Amino acid sequence: MCGIVGYTGKSQAAPILLDGLSKLEYRGYDSAGMAVFDGKKLRSEKTPGRLNALVEMTHDGELLPGTLGIGHTRWATHGKATKENAHPHFNAAGTVAVVHNGIIENYLSIRQRLEKKGYAFKSETDTETIAAMLDYYYEKDPIEAIIKVLHRVTGSYALGIIFTDHPGVLYAARKDSPLIVGKGRDGNYIASDVPAVLKYTRDVYYIRNEEIAKITGDEISFYNIDADPVTEELHTIEWDVNAADKGGYEFYMMKEMSEQPKVLRDTCDPRIKNGTIVFDELVKDEKIIKKASKLHIVACGSAYHAGISGKYVIEGMAGIPVEVELASEFRYRNPVYIPDEIVIAVSQSGETADTLAAIKEAKANGVPVWAIVNATGSSMTREADRTIYTYAGPEISVATTKAYSAQIAVFYMLAMMFAKTRGRLAPEREEEYIEDLKRLPEQVEFLLGNKERVQKFANRYIAAHDVYYIGRGIDYGIALEASLKLKEISYVHAEAYAAGELKHGTISLIEKNTLVTAIATQEELYDKTISNIVEVKSRGAFVMAVTNVGHSDIEENADFVIYIPSTNKYFANSLAIIPLQLFAYYVSAGRGYDVDHPRNLAKSVTVE
Ligand code: AGP
Ligand code: GLU
Repeated sequence: MCGIVGYTGKSQAAPILLDGLSKLEYRGYDSAGMAVFDGKKLRSEKTPGRLNALVEMTHDGELLPGTLGIGHTRWATHGKATKENAHPHFNAAGTVAVVHNGIIENYLSIRQRLEKKGYAFKSETDTETIAAMLDYYYEKDPIEAIIKVLHRVTGSYALGIIFTDHPGVLYAARKDSPLIVGKGRDGNYIASDVPAVLKYTRDVYYIRNEEIAKITGDEISFYNIDADPVTEELHTIEWDVNAADKGGYEFYMMKEMSEQPKVLRDTCDPRIKNGTIVFDELVKDEKIIKKASKLHIVACGSAYHAGISGKYVIEGMAGIPVEVELASEFRYRNPVYIPDEIVIAVSQSGETADTLAAIKEAKANGVPVWAIVNATGSSMTREADRTIYTYAGPEISVATTKAYSAQIAVFYMLAMMFAKTRGRLAPEREEEYIEDLKRLPEQVEFLLGNKERVQKFANRYIAAHDVYYIGRGIDYGIALEASLKLKEISYVHAEAYAAGELKHGTISLIEKNTLVTAIATQEELYDKTISNIVEVKSRGAFVMAVTNVGHSDIEENADFVIYIPSTNKYFANSLAIIPLQLFAYYVSAGRGYDVDHPRNLAKSVTVE
């Protein structure tokens, strides 16, 4: 949600801010702005719309000279995407500038109190309240003023702040919204995420919750909310710089789909040791694994869908009850925990507000929490008791593909490890699974190689209005993910249904030429799914089927069939999703949309 970049040092700030923001646009982009201080004058430009508008109106930043600056791409929560509501926000005198990611929940009462003291506001945002409060509390020491504000606000924030009384000094603070500090050669940086600074430095600090950073071109110091100096550890980012670039693809999504074979190898190979699965992260946990009464998976969006697939795999292999729940529901329903359950949070960004809150809810009740996360050093990795990384590398496209594939592969391996630890995995079966796991990347490669066939089919559905995805068992989890992919990037209405449930009402929506995608990879449910295909066909549907190679009989009923290579029933998830990701991509691209930046969405939903 929104992107923040700040810089102070020897170079001109504006070009650095614009370059950094362009690497963060996937985080939210309905307006953009920046403020640059040359030591005497604070200049600013803001605009609704995409970052390009800001680039053009500032002539690539030339119109904003100075070596201290803050920039912001906004994903609006309070007030429409207008110039007035765009960040940065200022105090009336224009001597304090603020950019913010998050929600100040008590902004209205603060605003009303300040209005009674004569403060006037230009925007509808909660953020402007922070600028006014800083003005109200500031005397000589910015850290003191910032701390007074942080003690009085509730909600979430990542802040970049400039005080014109303090040339060359950049201030930052965070609570629940992500913010890092980059330590460079020609100056120092703040950013919502690593890709924004990777071009300049690999050395970053992760600001902890309710900490403040004071940054000059040469020095970086940290303080806690009681103004005590604190020290932070410097981390070195291992990603290669190209990982955060498009690499010649038209959209990041195609690049990231194409990286899935490598991602599966990177995520699985280090955990396949001497013919068995070993999670180094969990070596101390054999006892709780043995006595685990239930796994409680909490996540949002595609990560939730990965959890649905994980449920079928873990229950099937290891015989442990698994509950999968939307984090936004879990966090508010006062969940009833049972002794020895383990909560497993799943998140690509590691910053999703609802999932982060779910982790805190479980921890507050003394429940062990593991997090399956992709973004190194993200907030969830610091909150959870154990972090199991997916090694998908930076995922830029808003619609997740490679991180989702890595998440379900982690669930395969967790299922195998739990089954083995609890004496439910025969050696020969384990060997078969390990072989299947090693074969997945080349099978995914094969399916990606068939992209033209999917593209040709997708071109017939660019004008589609309603698409239904049906599947039974594990295939239902795939249907959920495939449906979200299509919706979020092509804006075509799509619904996923357990195939056996369609006849209980929704089948009334099926009419001539309605596209129904049937996923039938589960042998023991294959005939039942064929019956469901016949049901929708008899109502005029056009059926696209995804099934295992060898089931050519399906062509008697399905109009377009994609066959996936053979693997065991659990790992079929990883194969069936590939053509369905491609289908969504080609419908979106065919409609001329910006596949990587769908309307209304952000890559990481760091607000409620
Ligand atoms: C995925 O395509 C969506 N953009 C979205 O549903 C995403 O999966 C969800 O917001 C969770 O994000 P996270 O994995 O970073 O927690
Ligand atoms: N709540 C702030 C606003 O609506 C910040 C939103 C964001 O994180 O981009 O402007």
